[in-house]
Amino acid sequence: MRIQVLSSHLINQIAAGEVIERPASVVKELLENSLDAGADAIEVDIEQGGLRRIRVRDNGCGIPSAELPLALSRHATSKIATLDDLERIASLGFRGEALPSIASVSRLRLSSTAAGAASGWSVQGEGSEPVPAAHPAGTTVDVADLFYNTPARRKFMRTEATEFKHIEQLVRRLALSCSPVALTLQHNQRVVFQLPPALSREDEEQRVARLCGQSFMEQALHVEHTAAGLALRGWVALPTFSRSQPDLQFFYVNRRMVRDKLVTHAVRQAYADVLYQGRHPAFVLFLEMDPAGVDVNAHPTKYEVRFRDSRLVHDFLSGTLKEALAQIRPAAARPAARPPFVPAMPASSGHTPAQTGMALDVQGQVAGYAALHPRPTPAAIPPTQVQDSVDYPLGFALAQLHGVYILAQNTRGLVLVDMHAAHERITYEGLKSSHAAQGIRSQPLLVPVSLRVSRREADACESQLDGFAALGFEIDRSGPEQLLVRQVPVLLHDTDIDALVRDVLSDLLEHGVSQRLQDTMNEILSTMACHGSVRAHRRLNIEEMNALLRNLENTERGGQCNHGRPTWVQVDLAELDRMFLRGR
Ligand SMILES: Nc1ncnc2c1ncn2[C@@H]1O[C@H](COP(=O)(O)OP(=O)(O)OP(=O)(O)O)[C@@H](O)[C@H]1O
Ligand SMILES: [Mg+2]
Repeated sequence: MRIQVLSSHLINQIAAGEVIERPASVVKELLENSLDAGADAIEVDIEQGGLRRIRVRDNGCGIPSAELPLALSRHATSKIATLDDLERIASLGFRGEALPSIASVSRLRLSSTAAGAASGWSVQGEGSEPVPAAHPAGTTVDVADLFYNTPARRKFMRTEATEFKHIEQLVRRLALSCSPVALTLQHNQRVVFQLPPALSREDEEQRVARLCGQSFMEQALHVEHTAAGLALRGWVALPTFSRSQPDLQFFYVNRRMVRDKLVTHAVRQAYADVLYQGRHPAFVLFLEMDPAGVDVNAHPTKYEVRFRDSRLVHDFLSGTLKEALAQIRPAAARPAARPPFVPAMPASSGHTPAQTGMALDVQGQVAGYAALHPRPTPAAIPPTQVQDSVDYPLGFALAQLHGVYILAQNTRGLVLVDMHAAHERITYEGLKSSHAAQGIRSQPLLVPVSLRVSRREADACESQLDGFAALGFEIDRSGPEQLLVRQVPVLLHDTDIDALVRDVLSDLLEHGVSQRLQDTMNEILSTMACHGSVRAHRRLNIEEMNALLRNLENTERGGQCNHGRPTWVQVDLAELDRMFLRGR
């Protein structure tokens, strides 16, 4: 065949092949357009899983009649005009190809009344002239018979129910990112959900609870932190609310939902010390930053982004979340129907929330409670001089149950503490801080370990020799593709050095950072803590138990043991009353 230029219709269909994978992709593009148009009310109507019909109606700025045909032509957009604009994209769309792509694989009608215009107009398919149409201010896009002319794609569609599930998930994800917008989703004339605009923090939390589940919201910490031109806010679940799947992870960069390896890595790192093996953290997080610092033109569906300073973003995310999670300890009793683990205001870290810009609270209760009940220093009151008037968060020990649990009484009721789990966390945090305080002791290997690596890995290692040295490693590059490990931290002497260094290098290549050496040391300290902690079935007297409770209250991450299991639970008097059907 000779070389020839493709028809614009076919070019659009090829573009559709990339962007429009299934009905949910159409919904995404239309919703993003409505949000870009500044709408504060959007209705999504779906018929037969979106294969029969997808209609999105908004009250945004609308499109002037003269521009309607342009909206359906390829490479026509109102959102960017210059390369400079492309490098600082503030809108969700910018390519000017979603509508023409969708129009090339469906029967599409676009109707709109622009702000200030007397009446509405509509166009049907690419190249058609606008005709008058009755339409309120705003825009409606009606997409019928998706993929009717591309049978190959149509064959890949699943059942109506499956396609609708994808749409519903998509709308939920987007709904999280636009709290001020009223959003309705209907399927086959049945309302699936109708979300009112959420303008206050309280309304927003209700919206998140509706979209992600009440239990998530009840067990979530609110995070808000600004530094170095980056602002992170949202909710992260307590480690004890982990999931078996990474299905409750919502991350947005400048309100754009993204799936990003760097983000996943940073979050995992923050949870590394508190999450049960193989579990996945849950979060809804919004990162706001200068659009010039993030390239969104990296993937056809725009789900992937590239941060210009990826190291900064990574460390900001993991640092902020780590700090938030470290505050979870039994500092205040939880209000009724709240999770057992209430974060304390930062105490040991030495800075106040105002200084860091971080607000950590559960439903705003913590600060008030802490002000009413200042936390006493544990050393100040020896366990023998127990005073009932002092309100310790974990209360005072009453007895030991089956050699496993400590029963304690606080003002709110009964506290149950898993003795081993609690002691393990205390020992671990203690080991970590003494290890950090003494510095890392390292020791030369009797026989240096020689590693064959790729040139890229050797380069990465060479550029990080100082970092390795700070962690107690001495590594030489002994050839273009050869490394020689001469000295390692004492603590890591018995580990598989070869595998560890390789893993660190692959982290460096993939993420530009590696936490692995630190993590491995922490793992070893954690194992030491586990073996060095009180085993179940050891008798403790009341004084020893009280000392353990006071210690736990003052331990970072005191809410979970090193494996992410809870260390204590609160049972309120009201709950006990309910158990005994006692009216109070
Ligand atoms: N709901 C809407 N309200 C107002 N204008 C709209 C709406 N939908 C589309 N438009 C206009 O039509 C143009 C084309 O939309 P289209 O989605 O094809 O491209 P885009 O949003 O600019 O870029 P992208 O292809 O990245 O989505 C937009 O730039 C915008 O001017
Ligand atoms: Mg668009």
